[in-house]
Amino acid sequence: MNVLMCAPDFFDIEYEINPWMHEDNPVVPSKAREQWDGLRRIYSQLGWNVQLLEPVQGLPDLVFTANGGLVYDNKVVLPHFRHPDRQGETEKFRKWFENAGYTNLYSPKYDFEGEGDALIWNDVIFAGYPWRTDKPAHKELADFLDATVVSLQLIDPRFYHLDTAFTIVDKDTVALYPKAFSEESIASVHNLVPNVIEATDQDALAYGLNAVSDGKHIVVPEGATHVMDRFRELGLEVFPCPISEFQKSGGGVKCLTLELRS
Ligand code: ARG
Repeated sequence: MNVLMCAPDFFDIEYEINPWMHEDNPVVPSKAREQWDGLRRIYSQLGWNVQLLEPVQGLPDLVFTANGGLVYDNKVVLPHFRHPDRQGETEKFRKWFENAGYTNLYSPKYDFEGEGDALIWNDVIFAGYPWRTDKPAHKELADFLDATVVSLQLIDPRFYHLDTAFTIVDKDTVALYPKAFSEESIASVHNLVPNVIEATDQDALAYGLNAVSDGKHIVVPEGATHVMDRFRELGLEVFPCPISEFQKSGGGVKCLTLELRS
């Protein structure tokens, strides 16, 4: 696995754009650093290649690199952030991709928040809407990437990005928190995916679906004990990771990680 991360040097709660964020519940910088270092260490132990984006003062959410785009088939769909507070991040991600040698970049017309709302399972892209990504952006993804996009409707504002309620586990398996989705969306997942793990309220509230898997190892926010057991039953090795400082911002393991597929 090849992933992009950004150190939490300037990470804090400077605005409130989701139900988890409260300016009067600030980040403890030393603890955030410790948790982020811990996550990076797990990835290194797994032999994953971690690339880094330079932190920028005034862009506290730049740590959430999952929102920095969607990389598929060497093509990059850049983000179009819904909230002005995050729109300054787009240029930072664009520059990073250009310097890294990606030449086929697309800027969507509609709101689109990268891997936060677009998760790749085999050759299917599951895409979330409506909280942060507009449904018409899904068509832009399908056209630019020449891929099948399955739209999933999120119905609970606490689970405002797809990656807060949906995990790609392996080639036969995804995990999801049913209460975060419309019934029709859950049915479309079951139609395609042979094995669908359902997370409990406790798992979901611990951000347990905000996990990263390579199909054999899965890194999961600690506290999501039920879903971790399901992953172990499948034969995966589970790596619990504390992320409480990032959850103050509505983020977790997956949000801190952009997968650079080539
Ligand atoms: N504070 C950030 C926001 O609300 C958190 C982003 C979490 N990222 C994710 N991929 N779910 O935009």
